[in-house]
Amino acid sequence: MNYNNIRELFLKYMEKNGHKIVPSASLIPDDPTVMFTVAGMVPFKNILQGIAPAPAMRVADSQKCLRAGGKHNDLEDVGYDGHHHTFFEMLGNWSFGDYFKDGAIELSWNLLTRELGLDPARLIVTTHISDDEATEIWKKLTGKDAIRLDKDNWWAMGDTGPCGPSTEIFWDFGESVPGGLPGAPDEAGRYVEIWNNVFMQYDRLADGSLSNLPHKNVDTGAGLERWAAMLQGVTDNYETDLFVALKNAVSDVTGAGQTADNVPSFKIISDHLRAVGFAIADGVVPSNTERGYVIRRILRRAMRHGQVLGHTGPLLSKLYPALVEQMAGAYPELARESARVIATIEKEEKAFEDMLTSGLKLLEKEIPNVAGKIMAGDVAFKLYDTYGFPLDLTQSILAERGMSVDVPGFDSAMSEQKERSRSTGVFKGGLSDESVETTRLHTATHLLGAALRRVLGDSVSQKGANITPERLRFDFSFERKVEPAELAEVERLVNDAISAAIPVECNDMAVADAHGAGAIGIFDSKYGEMVKVYKIGDVSLEICGGPHVGNTSELGAFKIQKEESSAAGVRRIKAVLGHKS
Ligand code: SER
Repeated sequence: MNYNNIRELFLKYMEKNGHKIVPSASLIPDDPTVMFTVAGMVPFKNILQGIAPAPAMRVADSQKCLRAGGKHNDLEDVGYDGHHHTFFEMLGNWSFGDYFKDGAIELSWNLLTRELGLDPARLIVTTHISDDEATEIWKKLTGKDAIRLDKDNWWAMGDTGPCGPSTEIFWDFGESVPGGLPGAPDEAGRYVEIWNNVFMQYDRLADGSLSNLPHKNVDTGAGLERWAAMLQGVTDNYETDLFVALKNAVSDVTGAGQTADNVPSFKIISDHLRAVGFAIADGVVPSNTERGYVIRRILRRAMRHGQVLGHTGPLLSKLYPALVEQMAGAYPELARESARVIATIEKEEKAFEDMLTSGLKLLEKEIPNVAGKIMAGDVAFKLYDTYGFPLDLTQSILAERGMSVDVPGFDSAMSEQKERSRSTGVFKGGLSDESVETTRLHTATHLLGAALRRVLGDSVSQKGANITPERLRFDFSFERKVEPAELAEVERLVNDAISAAIPVECNDMAVADAHGAGAIGIFDSKYGEMVKVYKIGDVSLEICGGPHVGNTSELGAFKIQKEESSAAGVRRIKAVLGHKS
């Protein structure tokens, strides 16, 4: 059974059991608390919370998911084992106040053992330590004793919102794969989680307490890539039909054969092709901020691995047709958006090539000065700090010539620079004082800036701010009046971030690093070389001298009072915060 057959079989089975089949939602979520759609439940959050009506009481789908950047991040793990992905498909069935624990468990068990004929002895189940009910249902239905675990069997999308105990089903890939049972210290490998059934019954509030959701719901998630491995009798997801086809395309485009040594590069490029292709098809534009930056980073990581395979020039843009061929049947947007996606990737690949070429020239100039085959740390640091040339790239280019970098020297150049810039000028951000009220409004200003960029586009940049204990005033570049509906959306996004109770973190970073991380910065030239970067979850990343509150929950309700013109091409918003009760 190939991917398309498995996906279809799952959906048909759920349809037969009274579920309405709905298409996958976009990878760009309508939810400020996550950067991408990280799980099948993301598009259903409002339904689970009883805020929006359900399309049916039973729903099933195959949802595009992306876990890179932000809280749910698997990017750095991809390539080095058989089951990590940035992009993946999550099969799911949903009950919105319809069946609950026994119905869900029965549906999963029957599909796995009857429809698919899997050996019950190779299926292991876990339940939450508190969940006697689910444990007994398993025992009665299958005679199995569930392994009872704590954290692993509690699912939540974020710090607040719908959550609940889960029961997970694992497939035993057999003795040939090392690894202990679920919950054991050497877990992972032999027993792989293939289906998570979450009993979404609670809402976690900002103060950490649990309240009951309006209905008892079921949210299940089954990774299609893992199912394919299980059903195709391979122990590595990257050995399944879809990935074999994508890796062959990588071989065709790069001219590199697949050897034991280059396995990670083949996996990384084929994984990243899916992430970049699907994200851009859904409307993500590579950029220097937020999700645009994550996609840029993934694309560049793929190109670096193209170089490992000896390939230069466009890569993912050439591979994209192979992705269309494999997956556009299930996701027609890939074919529909094909011309735009390829053009976007090409442009991005060209820009990265140019950056590499100019960085390489500088590096070439330095190489003759390298004494004793070790490049001085401050030289590598200058390349990095001034020209954005990453250390690992410098190292791998030098390695090709039998040279290396003095890494301790690089680190000390970095700390010396930090030392030099300590207590250089601190941006006061137009704050009239540092009272509690002003500080709260200052944090609200960052949320406002982020919301404006989300609603009006990345061209919006801050032109000035003035904050008193009573109100904030925020000037920003924009050509026209902001419509009332847009202002309402901005207000809603800010209030969502406030009720999501997001911690505000502060880090000291080199300017180049801050930009690399996608921070937005205003008045860059006034800064010393080290800057403070304030991060509010996935919502905002901004170079700023502070001060800020520790958590967005410290802000009261956000209200825009006025939007007006301030100068040509500059708009001004005045806003207040309600009292925190
Ligand atoms: N939300 C759960 C998960 O992501 C089940 O779909 O595993």
